[in-house]
Amino acid sequence: MARLTLTTLQKMARAGERIVSLTCYDASFARLLETAGVEVLLVGDSLGMVLQGRESTLAVSLEEMEYHTRCVAQGSSRAFIVADLPFGSYQASPREAFASAARLMRAGAHMVKLEGGRVMEETVRFLVERGIPVCGHLGLLPQSVHQVGGYRVQGREESEAARLLADARILDQAGIGLLVLEMTTRLLARQISAAVAAPTIGIGAGPDCHGQVLVLYDMLGIYGGKVPRFARNFLEGAHSIEAAVAAYVRAVKDGSFPGPEHGFD
Ligand code: KIV
Ligand code: NA
Repeated sequence: MARLTLTTLQKMARAGERIVSLTCYDASFARLLETAGVEVLLVGDSLGMVLQGRESTLAVSLEEMEYHTRCVAQGSSRAFIVADLPFGSYQASPREAFASAARLMRAGAHMVKLEGGRVMEETVRFLVERGIPVCGHLGLLPQSVHQVGGYRVQGREESEAARLLADARILDQAGIGLLVLEMTTRLLARQISAAVAAPTIGIGAGPDCHGQVLVLYDMLGIYGGKVPRFARNFLEGAHSIEAAVAAYVRAVKDGSFPGPEHGFD
């Protein structure tokens, strides 16, 4: 089968077919996940927590992201690969972001992801105009955890929700191709999903996004740290990792995951 493209993902979203994504950090899982039907492999800087055992994503380096992106690309022939720009590799300027993003693209990414709203407008435009597809990331921003003072639901206050909706529109206008929404209220995720052209991929953002993503180690129940309420262990009741991933793919496609118990009002 041919490689999935951003155009195909955007067509799926318009047709109402949910996009299925999981984080992935190595070649063996890349092969397994895409064989089970996962369409977007996200090389997330969550690897700082689930692989490296750190308390946050902040310590992850660009070299480490390149290494894991190369591993995933090596094992993959079908999925669309999105790689996180790690903390400190893009915030200072659009030029810095371009240099970092180019390294991830050379390692095999098809798109890079960065965290932040209007402050990233110029950077998104700079990358997209130069041929690098960009995935936005709004809501809970793990790279800003020390600024926001913890991992909490975003968009419960009206002013915060209005600011996030405006941020989504600004990123969309700047040219993002996908938009991750993390731990927002269901209502805000629905409003953003309706307002922007880019397909939205939710994590703890309710069922109304165009697609869903989970941290692989959370959905397999093999992370020893704090597992968020919005995750579900799909290995429970499954006989193999392949079966667990296939169950996740089915549940996202048929709309049974995420359920109301995995989201926030
Ligand atoms: O790093 C990561 O895994 C992510 C997803 C949770 C969206 O950014
Ligand atoms: Na991330």
